[in-house]
Parts: sequence; structure tokens; C-alpha cells
Amino acid sequence: MFLAAAKEAIGARGVFHVALSGGSTPRALHELLARESFERKVDWKRVRFFWGDERCVPPDSERSNYRMARETLLQPLRIPGEHVFRMRGEDPPRAAAALYEEVLALELGADWPRLDLIFLGLGPDGHTLSLFPGTRALQERLRKVVANYVAKFREWRLTLTYPAVNAARRIVFLAEGEAKRDPAGRILRRKPGYRELPASRVRPRDGQLLWLLDQEAGRDL
Ligand code: 6PG
Repeated sequence: MFLAAAKEAIGARGVFHVALSGGSTPRALHELLARESFERKVDWKRVRFFWGDERCVPPDSERSNYRMARETLLQPLRIPGEHVFRMRGEDPPRAAAALYEEVLALELGADWPRLDLIFLGLGPDGHTLSLFPGTRALQERLRKVVANYVAKFREWRLTLTYPAVNAARRIVFLAEGEAKRDPAGRILRRKPGYRELPASRVRPRDGQLLWLLDQEAGRDL
């Protein structure tokens, strides 16, 4: 699926804009993509890396989504720094969000804010990106990147908003394990109240939505 998205984007526009997800689930994907067999199949010099969200922490923090991707994907593939556009978690949150909007506008140009591929995770509470239940960012209809305070973690986050994520050509949820069974099942089977789960409102306006679940996460389907 990654190869198909890269091939289509590079063939059509000469560049592939992909946004990585945070959390731990994407590690396995990154390790797969960094394997020798994949390295030869993608024209990596035409790939530009973005993030869907970031914790407001320095880039070398254990909690940094950028750091996880750097260690599991970017360094192994020797991706040059100028092709990597991280959210600056070390900056004041609102300034970092505003700056990232400009970065996206500059890099995506006429396509803004349409990314070619966005990987998303799913939280046990049905959050995705840093769009957590009950937080302000869920209401954002204009901005493409916002700072979002997540009370349950007492932490500021940076996140793409629904207008940004739903502009994508392809969106792929990766979810594994028993903890994701309930939110995945409720959303995908549209059980009563599923719309309260933030991940349920990820619906690309003009693009593909794919859910990749393992046995446990997909048990209710
Ligand atoms: C983050 C993510 C978040 C994550 C889910 C799932 O910054 O943590 O963007 O939305 O994808 O919480 O996390 P796991 O993959 O660790 O279960």
C-alpha cells in the first residue's frame, strides 16, 4: 500500500508527501519499510516526511514521535534532514502550530493541505492524532494545525485538525491489540455513540480510508 501510494504520487507529481503517526504501533511498519527489500523499491529521495501530531517535548525526548521515527525509519534509510519536516515540540505550542501550518503550505504548495498518505493510530478512548475526546481541537474547522491541551496527560500537543487530515489522498489506521478492539469495533460497526470517538470523524473528502487491524483489534468485526 505504501509502495502504491509512493509510486502514484511520484509518478503524478514527482514527490510523495507522507505523514507519520506517533505512538508505538508504527514501529513495526517503520522497521519493515527500512528493510533492505523495501529500500530498493522506493525512490526515497523523492519522499518528504511530515507528522500528524507531536508531543510538546524536545526532539530527543523519549516521548517524541519524531525521535521514534528517526530511530526506526529515517536514520536506517539515511533520509536527508532537508526531507524531514518535524513539528517543533520544543517551541511554545501555539507558535509551533502556526509555524507547522506554514511549513505544510510551503512544502505542499498548490496541493495544500492535501498530503498523499497519512498514517494514524487509535487510542483505547477512540482518539487519533492528538484529537482526544473533550478537547478543543475537535471543534477546529479552519486551522490545519493547532496546539491542543490534553488535560488527562497534563500535556500540550501539536496536531493536524480534521480539515487537514480529511484532505488527504490516502489515510491508513494501524491498530493492534485488545485495547483497540472496542474503539475499532464501535467505529467500524457504527455502534450507538460511535460518533463521540474522535477517530470516527476521520473521513477523507476525496480519498481512500483503510483500517489495518490485527486479530485482537479486529475481533468485533
Ligand atoms: C501519539 C499518537 C496517538 C497514537 C495512539 C495509539 O502521539 O501518541 O499520535 O494518536 O497513535 O495513542 O498509540 P499506540 O500506537 O502507542 O497504541
